[in-house]
Amino acid sequence: MESIWSKTCNIPPRGALRGNVETEVAVIGAGMAGLLTAAALQKAGKQVVVLEANRIGSGQTRYTTAKITAQHGLFARKRIQALGEDRARRYASANLAAVEAYRALIRAEGIDCELEETNAYVYGDDRRQLEQEAEAEARLGLPASLVRDPDIPGGAAWAVRVERQAQFHPLKFLKAVSEPLTIYEATPVRRVEHHRLLTASGTVRAEHVVFACHYPFVNFPGLYFARVHQERSYVLALENARCPDGIWIGAESGGYSFRRYGDLLLLGGGGHRTGENHAGGHYEALRMQAARWFPDSREAAHWSAQDCMTADGAPYIGPYAKSRPYWYVATGFEKWGMTGSMVSATLLCDRICGRENPYAEVFTPGRLDAEAVRAIAGEGGHAIKGLTKQLLQLPIEQAEQLPRGHGGIVRLHGKKAGVYKDENGVIHAVDVRCPHLGCQLEWNPDEKSWDCPCHGSRFDFRGKLISGPAQNELKWPCAQSMDF
Ligand SMILES: Cc1cc2nc3c(=O)[nH]c(=O)nc-3n(C[C@H](O)[C@H](O)[C@H](O)COP(=O)(O)OP(=O)(O)OC[C@H]3O[C@@H](n4cnc5c(N)ncnc54)[C@H](O)[C@@H]3O)c2cc1C
Ligand code: FES
Repeated sequence: MESIWSKTCNIPPRGALRGNVETEVAVIGAGMAGLLTAAALQKAGKQVVVLEANRIGSGQTRYTTAKITAQHGLFARKRIQALGEDRARRYASANLAAVEAYRALIRAEGIDCELEETNAYVYGDDRRQLEQEAEAEARLGLPASLVRDPDIPGGAAWAVRVERQAQFHPLKFLKAVSEPLTIYEATPVRRVEHHRLLTASGTVRAEHVVFACHYPFVNFPGLYFARVHQERSYVLALENARCPDGIWIGAESGGYSFRRYGDLLLLGGGGHRTGENHAGGHYEALRMQAARWFPDSREAAHWSAQDCMTADGAPYIGPYAKSRPYWYVATGFEKWGMTGSMVSATLLCDRICGRENPYAEVFTPGRLDAEAVRAIAGEGGHAIKGLTKQLLQLPIEQAEQLPRGHGGIVRLHGKKAGVYKDENGVIHAVDVRCPHLGCQLEWNPDEKSWDCPCHGSRFDFRGKLISGPAQNELKWPCAQSMDF
């Protein structure tokens, strides 16, 4: 699965960490959040080292649609409700400032990343809903207005337009941002003990540690597992498909997202909680919609990704936990991680440099209001369901019964196992207990992967870790692949 971004940009490889180093700041993760934060700190005069488990930009950032906007879908009334008007206004101001910060950085450094200024829209048919959203966005300081009959595939009655937002090529941007930074690739951080980061090939000692690894993988302290889950969605890049100007997202759940990249239309949709894709068919559903709207289109690429979602819809950016004042986190971007990453860079740089920031309190991970507590209780419910399944649910299939090309939970040699039978009839068996906190993994037929419904860890059918919070591969209870 390659996105249009990774097909059109090569970032030169970096070596892995060898031995022990000391630095002022260690950043874990070379995605959009980690690299922007590292770059801001380095410019502020700090000595920074970035540790990346795989390659620069190889996490979720490689699969984004890279819209840079402070209009986060149908967000304004929801944020006012969850955060109160004053904090919601600061949330919006921080994101508007992030859009400007991209523009300024790209201009100042002459970064060739195909930045285009454009309008952002959220569209739908419910006039009252969109009128109220336009009014709320304007109250929060966005240049928002209501538009009638927007010209988009499938049509819509109304849209809220926010002017002067942007889109770009995220990996070309990261390539330029990463150039002056000290980055160790293929260096997963296994453990963090206060100021020491342990990897298989060396240790980093740092005054400050930034967790920009998408989902924070240290469970205690912080308890992020109780307040962050992940949601996936799917993208098709289409040739020969008419694309409206601007960046678009549907107001209704199940709505579609559109943007243009060169001659391609990027059509997104099919969001769901990671680990809850039992029936699959998300790419097929998008393809059917594309065939209806653009019968002459051709698919140039398809991909999917996931992002971290928080209890109140605002990211967690700031100190990791009270007991670790020298650890920081940037997570929970709710599929708006381009501006979220820039907000993280500004807030964390100010914090580490000892400067006040007017937006810090809105994003602080230490916040806990009534809405958040309710959502946390909901997360607990999901975890209990996942754990109960692991303990009590009996396998429903025998390996012999699985058709080729399918996966499922079966009884194999007297044990519960996750099994994928490939097109040649070879069985690949893994332990379906998630190494993060033990929930039962679910088969994802679209990606041929094992996904965790609790916090969204993913593994390929051989058990190799795709993304965390889990940090280990799946064990092989039956330790084999065999023919059936
Ligand atoms: C389909 C889809 C479309 C999206 N479109 C948009 C959009 O148009 N606009 C927008 O604003 N947002 C969008 N988003 C959200 C955005 O893409 C993400 O929020 C953002 O890319 C997250 O960046 P990140 O740096 O936090 O994570 P990542 O890019 O995942 O980076 C984290 C890095 O940490 C590394 N890592 C993990 N664990 C370790 C470890 N133990 N040691 C060392 N390294 C580690 C990983 O390998 C990874 O490279 C979209 C999301 C999805 C799912
Ligand atoms: S990701 Fe937490 S238990 Fe699986």
